[in-house]
Amino acid sequence: MARRPNPFVCQSCGAVASKWSGRCESCGEWNTLIEEQAVPPVPGRKPRKGRAFSLTALEGEQRPAPRTETGLAEFDRVTGGGLVPGSAILVGGDPGIGKSTLLLQAAAAVAAGGGRAVYISGEEAIAQLQLRAKRLGLAGAGVALGAETNVEDILATLQSEPPAEIVVIDSIQTMWSDAVESAPGTVAQVRAAAQALIRYAKGSGAAVALVGHVTKDGQIAGPRVVEHMVDAVLYFEGDAMHQFRILRAVKNRFGPTDEIGVFEMTGEGLREVANPSALFLSEREEGTPGVAVFASMEGTRPILVEVQALVAPSPFAAPRRAVVGWDASRLAMVLAVLDARCALRLAGLDIYLNVAGGLRIAEPAADLAAAAAIVSSLADVALPASSVYFGEIGLSGAIRRVAHMPARLREAESLGFSAAVCPPMGGDKEAAATKLALEPISRLAELVALVAKAAGRPLGELRAGAGTNQGD
Ligand code: TYD
Ligand code: MG
Repeated sequence: MARRPNPFVCQSCGAVASKWSGRCESCGEWNTLIEEQAVPPVPGRKPRKGRAFSLTALEGEQRPAPRTETGLAEFDRVTGGGLVPGSAILVGGDPGIGKSTLLLQAAAAVAAGGGRAVYISGEEAIAQLQLRAKRLGLAGAGVALGAETNVEDILATLQSEPPAEIVVIDSIQTMWSDAVESAPGTVAQVRAAAQALIRYAKGSGAAVALVGHVTKDGQIAGPRVVEHMVDAVLYFEGDAMHQFRILRAVKNRFGPTDEIGVFEMTGEGLREVANPSALFLSEREEGTPGVAVFASMEGTRPILVEVQALVAPSPFAAPRRAVVGWDASRLAMVLAVLDARCALRLAGLDIYLNVAGGLRIAEPAADLAAAAAIVSSLADVALPASSVYFGEIGLSGAIRRVAHMPARLREAESLGFSAAVCPPMGGDKEAAATKLALEPISRLAELVALVAKAAGRPLGELRAGAGTNQGD
């Protein structure tokens, strides 16, 4: 009898294919398809007859979800005010970014506040965890530790102990359940383990935090298969070259998803950064051409960050355009508008754009700051160090209003800035009441004129001239 072939399951997105291929057709990741043993139906088992349950109305008594504040303010901000009892959260991130450190600190903070915190590690031995706790100064914090990977054993242990406020499982990829035959780390195992742990959370009222590694090689099931099962998904980001880390909510059934928490990785663990603007502006070189301070918004929080541009004649036939920390297609659009609406000749020039400190910004409000940095570098004249920039650029060259203008202005004011180049305030009385000197501009050409005035020469002609010299 022909055996039914095992399905191939994408370890990144969970899509099922009947045959192996190098690339998952569903999510586009490479080398993620792995053959998984299908669970054979139990012979002789009859399907269970369903039991009716009662349906209720949509309206009912509404109570805000009770919260367990961890006391780690940046963590609580991202979760929307603390952990919700009975909920499951997933904390994803690259290996080595600091997930274990973050959750150990969060667990210790819960314990310090009188709650019960359990930390189960499937990756590190007890001695290693104790060493880390000592390094973090948390050895006496009263977190109950365990090093275990079998979900049934973990659940039996948790059920035999007093109820916990927070249970950290580090990481979900190392967990395995007896109920599934696949190897640990496969989609089937990760899913089964997550399901059992989430069921435990709902039943016991503990908040369960699952750590998930994001891996590119596809050997271990990505946390994406767990994302839809949990109540909140937080991603811990940052790069190895910079100390600061950002915790970002990408899904939250109990709170907002646009909040971020900012931490700094130090020798003694993660330090909360209550004022990220000061951190991102700390290494500012004032008086340098090609630098503009952007008043950005991350969730409800304004963050000032430096946008740097370098414009230089290109030695190549096709000039380079490189961008770090922002969207490359957004840069291309800003350049096209500068060219078409402001008569700046940018062809033949290499253009590099960088968001300082390693922050990644996604907002279109950064358009104006990026344009200001580019034009400043082009003119080789520094922008006033006391000005901030924000505004969205339309294809027509118009500067559009952006959200949260009063909050951006307040943040700039509190950091000692004295002027803002931004879209006109319109009817926004609150924003117009700022102490900053506003330089409202409604066309991109006005920004170019501002820089040209500072440079004392018209920019378009300057570059056209420089371009011909370059060609000689
Ligand atoms: P870790 O929490 O183990 O990362 P993850 O669980 O996401 O894999 O943190 C790993 C890195 O953090 C490690 O390379 C060293 C660094 N680190 C510090 O700089 N200071 C510290 O106090 C700790 C505990 C870690
Ligand atoms: Mg870890």
